[in-house]
Amino acid sequence: MKLTVCGSYDELSEAAAEMIREQVSEKPESVIGFATGSTPVGMYKKLIEMYKTGKLDMSRTVSFNLDEYYPVKSSDSLSYHRFMYDNFFDAVNIKPENIHIPNGETNDPQKECEEYEKAIESAGGIDIQILGLGRNGHIGFNEPADKLYAKTHLAKLSQTTIEANSRFFEDAESVPRRALTMGMASILQAKKILLLVCGSEKRSAAAELMSSFITTDNPATLLKLHRDVTVICDREAAGK
Ligand code: F6R
Repeated sequence: MKLTVCGSYDELSEAAAEMIREQVSEKPESVIGFATGSTPVGMYKKLIEMYKTGKLDMSRTVSFNLDEYYPVKSSDSLSYHRFMYDNFFDAVNIKPENIHIPNGETNDPQKECEEYEKAIESAGGIDIQILGLGRNGHIGFNEPADKLYAKTHLAKLSQTTIEANSRFFEDAESVPRRALTMGMASILQAKKILLLVCGSEKRSAAAELMSSFITTDNPATLLKLHRDVTVICDREAAGK
């Protein structure tokens, strides 16, 4: 695992965007796994700037998002679908037919999850997966538990996650209790992984990640099984 500690959120966002730019410039038809949440917003802004100044061309890029609340309408302002279009997709030249986000409107979540896995496979697998870190060590919506799911599945959000995500909703009651999410194997099968970590509230999960242990109590620690993981964090998350 390669660790970079950045002095500021702006620096972290720049370093992350630069990694994506390099990936797309080396392989324009790259398959990129995107994440939502507060952490990657700065990176999306930098990527939009790169696109506008002719440094990034996403016309052949394919995307798969990590997760989506369930049930949720894609048009809902708090869906991850809306988040991605508002914060990124609408501002760059990625083709709508190349965008994949789990369908939070489906009546058949199991079928949706199976089809999502198949779509990733037929795209040739994910070249680079971007991740944020939950306060409890979750990645995607793979929450701490005795057993973790391997593949895309319907997950129950933990109380910690419901409380953390309530900042985007009117109150904790309005946060959806479930989500469709890539599983641990879906994530670990990506060729490269880029984990972004910022803020002091992530410090303890980040410290476990940097410890010598792997535990399903902190799903992010399983990233140590992967050969090509880059962690970019800010000083608040890195602590000492
Ligand atoms: C988002 C996702 C989540 C977030 C994590 C951190 O697609 O899968 O795992 O990355 O909850 O969220 P923020 O960045 O809002 O602290």
